[in-house]
Amino acid sequence: MKKTKMVVIRTVDNRWIKRYRIFFGIVGIIVLVQLYLSSFKILADSDGKENKWNPHKISGPEDAENSVNSARRGKDSLAVDDEDARQDKVQKSSNKQGTKSYTKLRIEELDFKPSCEITTKEAISAIHRAKTQKCKQEISNLTCLIQNGLFYPTVLPNYCPNDDLIAGKSLGCFKDEKSFRILRGYYANFKNNNSPENCIRLCLQSGFPYAGVQYSTECFCGIDEPPSVARLPDSSCNMKCPANHHLACGGYFTINVYQTGIKKFYPQVATIVSTDPKPVKIVFLLTLNGRALRQVKRLIKTLYNVNHYFYIHVDVRQDYLFRELLSLEKQFPNIRLTRKRYATIWGGASLLKMLLSCMKELLHLDWKWDFVLNLSESDYPVKTVNRLVEFLGANMNRNFVKSHGREVQRFIQKQGLDKTFIECDTHMWRTGDRQLPWGIQIDGGSDWIALSRKFVNYVASDYPDQLVEGLLVFFKYTLLPAESFFHTVLRNSKFCGTYVDNNLHVTNWKRRLGCKCQYKHVVDWCGCSPNDFKPEDWLRIQNTQTRQLFFARKFEPIINQAVVVQLEEWLYSYDFSKSILNINSYWHSIYNALDLGQNVDDSVISISNSAIRSKFRSLKCNNDLIKIKEIHTFHVSDSYNRTLVLFEATSLNSSVVSTYELGFRPRKRLVVKKSPEFPYRLENLVVSSEYDQKEQISRNFGKMLGPYSEPTLIYHFSSVSSPEPTKVANISFLWIDPGARLIEISEVSIEDGYTIGHIKPNLKQPLLPGSWTLKMIHKSSILAEVKFLVTPLSHISNNLVSQSQVSFIHGGSELFKEYDGTLDKFLPGNNQRESLEMLSISNSKRFGQDLLDWIDALFGKFYTLESICIASAADTCGLNVTKCSNTNWSSLAPDPKSHIGKINETTGSFDLW
Ligand SMILES: *[C@@H]1O[C@H](CO)[C@@H](O)[C@H](O)[C@H]1NC(C)=O
Ligand SMILES: *[C@@H]1O[C@H](CO)[C@@H](O)[C@H](O)[C@H]1NC(C)=O
Ligand SMILES: *[C@@H]1O[C@H](CO)[C@@H](O)[C@H](O)[C@H]1NC(C)=O
Ligand SMILES: *[C@@H]1O[C@H](CO)[C@@H](O)[C@H](O)[C@H]1NC(C)=O
Ligand SMILES: *[C@@H]1O[C@H](CO)[C@@H](O)[C@H](O)[C@H]1NC(C)=O
Ligand SMILES: *[C@@H]1O[C@H](CO)[C@@H](O)[C@H](O)[C@H]1NC(C)=O
Ligand SMILES: *[C@@H]1O[C@H](CO)[C@@H](O)[C@H](O)[C@H]1NC(C)=O
Repeated sequence: MKKTKMVVIRTVDNRWIKRYRIFFGIVGIIVLVQLYLSSFKILADSDGKENKWNPHKISGPEDAENSVNSARRGKDSLAVDDEDARQDKVQKSSNKQGTKSYTKLRIEELDFKPSCEITTKEAISAIHRAKTQKCKQEISNLTCLIQNGLFYPTVLPNYCPNDDLIAGKSLGCFKDEKSFRILRGYYANFKNNNSPENCIRLCLQSGFPYAGVQYSTECFCGIDEPPSVARLPDSSCNMKCPANHHLACGGYFTINVYQTGIKKFYPQVATIVSTDPKPVKIVFLLTLNGRALRQVKRLIKTLYNVNHYFYIHVDVRQDYLFRELLSLEKQFPNIRLTRKRYATIWGGASLLKMLLSCMKELLHLDWKWDFVLNLSESDYPVKTVNRLVEFLGANMNRNFVKSHGREVQRFIQKQGLDKTFIECDTHMWRTGDRQLPWGIQIDGGSDWIALSRKFVNYVASDYPDQLVEGLLVFFKYTLLPAESFFHTVLRNSKFCGTYVDNNLHVTNWKRRLGCKCQYKHVVDWCGCSPNDFKPEDWLRIQNTQTRQLFFARKFEPIINQAVVVQLEEWLYSYDFSKSILNINSYWHSIYNALDLGQNVDDSVISISNSAIRSKFRSLKCNNDLIKIKEIHTFHVSDSYNRTLVLFEATSLNSSVVSTYELGFRPRKRLVVKKSPEFPYRLENLVVSSEYDQKEQISRNFGKMLGPYSEPTLIYHFSSVSSPEPTKVANISFLWIDPGARLIEISEVSIEDGYTIGHIKPNLKQPLLPGSWTLKMIHKSSILAEVKFLVTPLSHISNNLVSQSQVSFIHGGSELFKEYDGTLDKFLPGNNQRESLEMLSISNSKRFGQDLLDWIDALFGKFYTLESICIASAADTCGLNVTKCSNTNWSSLAPDPKSHIGKINETTGSFDLW
């Protein structure tokens, strides 16, 4: 018999304070939005319409079939060669939020009146989903302009010299053959609106010099002029065009052929050696984000030469990196940080704004440069700068961009170029379809570029010509604008003859991992990202040796640093027997007291403070004032080793200030039971947060979770023996809170032998602090149990919590989970449950020293302390411990690979070690 139970009903103390009112307000809005979205779903479902955001859908050729079709055999396959297959960067998603069920804007929800009646359903959906009224208004303003039809340029000039070819010039009627097409570049079928004009536009846009209409509705594009032997009398082309019955659109295997006005495009082939190489000067335009300071320094160090320049844009939200790099500006005249900083998001329009802004500034500096080359913190050179200089010197005034290398129409669709995207509220909102401007070829591909000064002067001019001006309007509302803007300008400007189809980069695409729609929260589209290089990808790097490739991406030392070491050894033929100090260590700052804008989780501060208290208690040192200066995660040979907290301790009676650094790391709290019934081996089971699906790792290395964290379970199974027939194993995970209540059940089915996966349960915040238990159940027995800590907070935004805050943030949520009695045996018995529940209620009220004692007790169960070192001369505790700079683990230990010292006067570069 099944009985149903209500697990928890608990009352929440209502004395929360102002900041949590805000929090609650946000929660309220989220709930409203969700209610709104779910009301959508119900309506849509009753409509019988498929209304799911379906992120994994890849637009196959069928999607485009009814309008366009590729005739280029073997080129239209999605199975791109993975080598440089950046063209697959964006997958189309069939996001149909805001379906027909809501074709009207609910004006009552807006605090402004739209200037027109908005009818585009995608725009309506975006307006309702946007968070702020300002953003809603921006979307609505722009949508009205676009609906008016006056916003986007409809035609743009093409300044690429065309040898006097005339757009629209008729070449006459020709005989076509099924097995040997006269025009075989591209094919489309316009059932309702075929005409020479429409076909010419399409072929021009796709980059073909010839267009032909046939059999009334068909449009063909081609590169080569039709042979005169196939010429027929005009009367043989006698079918009417659907768009205009006065015009002929070919006939049965006869075709009217026209010039599109552009000539056949040949990308330039880069020269490798030149008899007269110019000593070029390069600007490395570094666009940086994140906190990987030591990798950035390492990159600068390896690229630096007095002849070149570094122009650095640090995302406006990244105060740490900006502050730390500012000192380089004082040290080196050829390193400069732009003060015009932007908040860029993945795929956002702001990216192009930022790049153009940097380029404009570069043109106005007194630096004498020849090329701008775009890099980020995750790039690394695979050839020396000297070789890059030789190469660019032999190719003066050329421009290096990489094209998608496939069907243009297909690229346009995959990239969403035919949609308007509006960036606000740090999101790219898709607001509807649009026409691309006619008269120009559309091109795009990778957003890694190397541009000549002449071209930058043209494209980033303060007085843009009609082409650039029009494209700037268009690309201001484009997803991933940097992947097409420069390409398209280049192809249609007088610089078209300087186009080299090579961006000098090799990119580590692993689509199985990198295309998980991981940017849904910032864009209404599915995007892909390349993976970090690891030693197993070495061949890809090695293969660049004989090719015109100078950089590889991505590298992230927090994921893997061994490959960077390997790369440098290879690059500089460096002998490792010289043994560089701490070469395999990596320090990553996760908090710095000087950071503007608190972006660290309160649990990190609370746990770090607890670590310090616990250490001092064991050392019998009494310090009344502790101030955390910086927190790092420390990695050795690519595995997390410990978390380091650098702090000042002041003893009140002497007011002596000392600086120490202390390490600590989480204990393993996993217990695995053997079961002959379970067909796989459990390799690991971890509860953490910040799971990175692409690299399959949690970036919360210290597993620090607080009441407002979003815990994620990461599981890793492997086959017991291989080869093994595929077996399905159904597993349940029970999430049990410190009050012994079942909060959530997650279910997963393991099907293949080797699986790393994750589950993010829908837990309501604030989570009840204390020791949580996760039980893994298979065939009604417990296979594993992992305990994890949701730490009570001693600090909020770096201030000690007040008594009124405590009752709210540590009170947990009202939770209900119904379950049937068969799970009873996995949960504590009634008596135990009652006492644990009582305990958690009394714990949640603890405050002051009592609260700190509770946190420290939990810290002791979940973390172990490592060594402490001293960084100052004064030693308030009289600890007599090692100086931090003499250890091999402190963040103050020597790190020659990232240390920027003096340049070598002879070479003008840094001696690497
Ligand atoms: C939208 O347009 C109105 C009226 O033209 C203007 O007052 C307002 O500032 C605009 N708002 C935004 C966010 O663009
Ligand atoms: C430049 O670099 C950033 C990465 O930091 C990249 O996202 C951007 O699109 C690049 N684009 C161009 C055109 O330089
Ligand atoms: C941390 O690194 C040290 C060497 O620096 C090593 O001896 C120790 O075993 C490492 N600890 C862990 C948990 O990896
Ligand atoms: C400060 O207090 C500690 C005990 O807490 C004591 O050992 C030390 O001598 C005092 N120092 C001074 C300068 O009074
Ligand atoms: C696993 O669960 C699914 C349904 O959730 C069921 O169809 C399947 O038979 C189960 N497999 C095993 C091995 O229990
Ligand atoms: C500090 O420790 C070192 C050895 O670790 C010892 O030689 C020295 O005497 C100690 N100094 C004090 C003041 O205790
Ligand atoms: C500077 O570089 C030159 C050439 O590589 C080298 O011989 C010399 O030792 C370096 N100078 C210093 C001070 O390291």
